[in-house]
Amino acid sequence: MSKIYELIPLTDLDRTAQLRVLNIRNEEFIREWMFTEGVISEAEHLAWIERLKADQSQICLVIVDEHTCPFGAVNLKKIDKRHKSAELGFYKTRNINEKGLMAKSLAALIDYSFDTLGLEKIYTEVFDGNLKSLNIHKMLLFTEEGFLRSHIVNGEKRIGLRLFGLLKNEWQKGKGRINIRNDITIHPIKRINGECDTIDGKDGV
Ligand SMILES: CC(C)(COP(=O)(O)OP(=O)(O)OC[C@H]1O[C@@H](n2cnc3c(N)ncnc32)[C@H](O)[C@@H]1OP(=O)(O)O)[C@@H](O)C(=O)NCCC(=O)NCCS
Repeated sequence: MSKIYELIPLTDLDRTAQLRVLNIRNEEFIREWMFTEGVISEAEHLAWIERLKADQSQICLVIVDEHTCPFGAVNLKKIDKRHKSAELGFYKTRNINEKGLMAKSLAALIDYSFDTLGLEKIYTEVFDGNLKSLNIHKMLLFTEEGFLRSHIVNGEKRIGLRLFGLLKNEWQKGKGRINIRNDITIHPIKRINGECDTIDGKDGV
């Protein structure tokens, strides 16, 4: 039987679920691959949620099951209306063994970004060595566009950043051929308050 998940704005979740998302953000194996390396405090997390409510350049959607229990998040940052682009970010708790859930959630967000928000390009910066992330990018048709050598400090060492990009036409042409598990259903993303306008300022497509 198909398992059903939904992508809900972090700002719409109740406080308990929002704090569960904080616990996920603070999982050691997630922090290892994120730009915010230290443990995030509850105050910092809640202040970020407050900022999200008013910030049209960011969207954070939490992956939840039918009990609204969070398992991870997919987000867009730096949404740029002029250039119709945004940076993608994502993380998934280690406490769920649902293979393909992240790939499927990202596919839903990519569809929403191109079809509803009107973006033309999505890009990411991936820490060198992040094989799980690399695999997902390949599966989802991203192209590796560059490598920034020895670019950031990660823990005790300097590492490089891999740059990935995906264009709307590449996605639309190739997405039908992607083999993501079809026993996982992600509900279509509901219109997001304040952020649901398309980039052109028109109502959703
Ligand atoms: C990156 C991250 C989200 C990937 O999570 P994930 O569990 O690998 O992602 P998915 O849910 O898509 O599952 C992928 C797995 O499902 C498998 N899978 C995907 N589609 C499948 C299919 N159609 N049939 C069978 N298996 C499938 C993949 O082979 C992979 O298996 P593996 O775990 O044995 O390698 C997770 O590792 C994470 O949160 N990392 C830390 C944060 C991070 O790096 N974020 C990205 C920053 S750029």
